[in-house]
Amino acid sequence: MFFTTAFLAVFSACLASVASASPIPVERSALQGRAGPSGTVIFPPGNTVFLNLGQTGDLHIQYQRVNTTLPNDEGPAWTVGIDLFLEDPTGAQADMPITCGFRANPVTASVIDGHFVPPEDACGSYNLVAMEHQYYRGEVITFRAAAPYVSVTCGPIQ
Ligand SMILES: *[C@@H]1O[C@H](CO)[C@@H](O)[C@H](O)[C@H]1NC(C)=O
Repeated sequence: MFFTTAFLAVFSACLASVASASPIPVERSALQGRAGPSGTVIFPPGNTVFLNLGQTGDLHIQYQRVNTTLPNDEGPAWTVGIDLFLEDPTGAQADMPITCGFRANPVTASVIDGHFVPPEDACGSYNLVAMEHQYYRGEVITFRAAAPYVSVTCGPIQ
């Protein structure tokens, strides 16, 4: 599959879920049991504290992509991109989207690396969920790849 086709499919699906204010509901468990090799979060490790200072905070993410050849002639598997959202483990707050279809630069670089302003209402403890979109056995699949526990401390505008 061409890169462009894979990226477009991923991006429109995530945007639709954000627009409906119910981020990434279907994908979370729909593909359980058929996930390909998973990418991993390099940063942040669990228990990282981020600051949310009136839209000036810095939420840094580094994600190790998959780029491999599957056994038994099943072809290549590679990370297309990731969606990120903050999930309140208590369920009190709705999921807060951070980014959709975020990818490496260049797209084949081994690490996806970026900086985001934390969502405006994010103050507290969350799972930083990475949904991986992966080209796998000829199609793009989506699965929950990682969810490090992070804290977001709010303060005044800096
Ligand atoms: C996978 O890695 C190979 C070798 O480094 C590179 O040529 C190729 O572009 C990479 N593919 C993807 C999709 O990242």
